[in-house]
Formats: sequence, structure tokens, C-alpha cells
Amino acid sequence: MLKHVTLLALLRSLTKKDKGLLLLDTHAGRGLYDLSSSESKQANEAAKGIERLLVHAAQDGTRFAPFPEIADYLKVVRETRQRTSDRQAYPGSPLIALAALRPQDRLTLIESQPAEHAALREAVKNASRYAREHDGTPASITIECADGYGRLAAWLPPIERRALVVIDPPYEDTTSDFKAAERASQEALRRLANAVTAIWYPIKQVKDTDTWRTKLISALPQKAGGEALSTLALELWIHPLDTRVGLNGSGMLIINPPFQFEEHARQWLPALHAALDPESRGGCAVR
Ligand SMILES: C[S@@+](CC[C@H](N)C(=O)[O-])C[C@H]1O[C@@H](n2cnc3c(N)ncnc32)[C@H](O)[C@@H]1O
Repeated sequence: MLKHVTLLALLRSLTKKDKGLLLLDTHAGRGLYDLSSSESKQANEAAKGIERLLVHAAQDGTRFAPFPEIADYLKVVRETRQRTSDRQAYPGSPLIALAALRPQDRLTLIESQPAEHAALREAVKNASRYAREHDGTPASITIECADGYGRLAAWLPPIERRALVVIDPPYEDTTSDFKAAERASQEALRRLANAVTAIWYPIKQVKDTDTWRTKLISALPQKAGGEALSTLALELWIHPLDTRVGLNGSGMLIINPPFQFEEHARQWLPALHAALDPESRGGCAVR
């Protein structure tokens, strides 16, 4: 939820300028998820997550009105469920992005697993057909079955010279995705100095997260002319820090955050945290 609200918040800022942009999603996933899936803990997690947020919004129609980033997100989830006639459907980053991009924008989706890639194609085909019939021309979309890190070089820099790169790996292996995300963020900046890069990361042990984040930031190529590079981390966790649970929380590290993005995040992030963690056992931070 943090990842998807952040994605919409970034697109809300970046689409203020008329000029088109490229959104490169290096780990796109299957596009559409079934939260009732008995094979996973998803149904359980959803009850405390997205379903809880939707209930809050239904009970108090004004609760998220001051936070358009959260309201945008709930709207995409509701519309996905309505379109698919499935009350357990949940949109992944490709469908979330598609809802916010304009005809002058481009969306490139990379997914390496053939079965996920096939599901992604189907989900995007249906969503863009619906968008064409109801909302007008959607962004132009390319979907590839490939290694997302390896395809950065093919897609950057884009002709628009404006890009949002979203890096959302599975972190299944303890170290390799952390290292690969570091290298990919450096490559994105080398290829396009003003690229906005958003990297999702898990929060388990705070010391490890802090060490990784600090090292990644310090290794980024600096801007020409000595201007400081701007980075921002949004983090949300639901148990006390360092609690030994599978996944306590997560963060989004944003390189080159758009103008005033931080000020808005300082409003909506605590509101999202309060809705997900009503007893306030965890916390949130904008670093
Ligand atoms: C966390 S999921 C992505 C979720 C998606 N970004 C979303 O928000 O809906 C990670 C995905 O990356 C895929 N993947 C793993 N390694 C990859 C690689 N090297 N390149 C592209 N995709 C990869 C996995 O198959 C999985 O579908």
C-alpha cells in the first residue's frame, strides 16, 4: 500500500507538466491480484490493509479528503473491482500507473517470469481496452518478458528526457536484489541525471536497512556542477522496530523527488499509518 500510494503521489506531481514521460517498471508483476487466493497469506493481510482502509473511507466519506494521494489510490482499487466485477481484485503497479498516466506518456513493463508475464499481458490488455472505451486514449504501453535490470540501458534515456523508474524486486535472495537495486539506481542516474527513481525495500532489522540505504545514497553519481542530489525515504512499519515478524514494514527510496513531493508526503504518510496501525505500535518516517 505504501508502494502504490507513493507511486500515485509521484505521478500526481510528475503529470502536472504537459510534457510526456516514460514510466519504466522494472519488476512489473502480474498486474492484477486475487486477494482471496488461498495459496497465500494475502487474504489475511488484506483484511488489515486495503480492506480496512476501504471500510474507513466508506464509514467516513471525508476521512481521506485532505489526502488526495490516498483518495486517488482508493479510487483505483474501487474502479478495478468494479471493472472486473471481482470484490477481491487488487491492482498491481502497472494498473495503478495506467490509471494516472496520460496519452502523451509511455509505460514500459518488464517481468521476467513467463507465467507472470502472460498474466500481466492479459491484465493490461483488459484494463487498457476498458480505458479506451470509457476514459479516452491511455498511455502507450510496452510489455517485455526480460530481466528488468538488464533492460534499463535499452530504455534510458527516453526521448522525452523525463522518466520515473520504479524498482520493486522480490528480495528473495538475502543480498542480490539489494546489490542489484544499488547498481540499477546508479545506472538510471548516469543515463538520465534528472530521472526520478523509486525503489521499494523491506524493513526487517533497522540497522541493516539503514546501512543499505546510506550506502546506496553515498554511491550515487553526483550532479554536474556540484549541486546536491536529493533523496527521500518514506517508511512505514506496523510493529515496534526490530520485532521478529516476517515483514514488519517497508520503505520507498526516492531519488530526485519532484517539487513539493516531500511536503505532501509529510501529510499523507502519517494518515496512512494511522489507518493501518490504529494502536500506533509501529510508526512511519520521512527521512
Ligand atoms: C514484488 S513483485 C512486483 C510487484 C509489482 N511491482 C506491483 O507493485 O504490483 C516482483 C516481481 O518481479 C519479478 N522478477 C523477479 N526478478 C526479476 C527480474 N530480474 N526482472 C524482472 N522481473 C523480475 C517477479 O517474478 C515478481 O513478479
